[in-house]
Amino acid sequence: MTPNVTEIAPDTFRISAFAPDYGIQFNQFLVRDDEPFLMHTGLKRMFETTRAGVRSLIDPATLRWIGYSHFEPDECGALNEWMAVAPRAQALTSIVGSMVMLQDFADRPGRALGDGEVVSLGRHRLRFLATPHVPHGWDAGFFFDETERTLFCSDLCFHPGDPEPLIEAGIVERAREAMAFGQTTPLANDMPYTATTDATLRRLAALEPKTLAVMHGSSYRGDGGAALRGVAEAAAALLGPGR
Ligand SMILES: [Fe+2]
Ligand SMILES: [Fe+2]
Repeated sequence: MTPNVTEIAPDTFRISAFAPDYGIQFNQFLVRDDEPFLMHTGLKRMFETTRAGVRSLIDPATLRWIGYSHFEPDECGALNEWMAVAPRAQALTSIVGSMVMLQDFADRPGRALGDGEVVSLGRHRLRFLATPHVPHGWDAGFFFDETERTLFCSDLCFHPGDPEPLIEAGIVERAREAMAFGQTTPLANDMPYTATTDATLRRLAALEPKTLAVMHGSSYRGDGGAALRGVAEAAAALLGPGR
């Protein structure tokens, strides 16, 4: 399978594969820099597809960092396959993610990041934000590219289908619709609404991203802060207390 590769921000590439059995896209992102960074490995069974996308941009053996938001197969299931083909590649995860999952799962030690810690790729600076239970998982976190103001959104702003790579309007509506519909399916409750959910979403919005790199669905370019505040409002209305 050949993935669809699109540059969504300078030196930031979306590697997209549509999975008809799920009815959704799985999007990985590569930041091309001195120390190349891959956001999500994709599913283990999609490894060759993801690798083909990476190979169209860099020599996969030169991959240095693999970031993921939380421990699930689409986010990091192919981690050890990547370790095998990229000898310098190291996983980046939260302190919880490292202690609870990664240390046992990964074939090589990863690097645990504290809240607010920065990783330099060369030209790009990535800041890690620990966000327990957003979008889900005790270990969850977000990576924000401060250089290009790209937020790697993981499952936040999820929307199904095989939509266009990049949109400049309508992301909040899509996310809201998917959130509402999702509550009617057996896959409901993917995002727990906790006492800190709203504050976490608003902290992400305050980064004022220019690009939202969405794992399942179109990426968005525009006023990312306003979009995330819209998603926070939708989440409060659909998932919050008193809904
Ligand atoms: Fe997830
Ligand atoms: Fe995901």
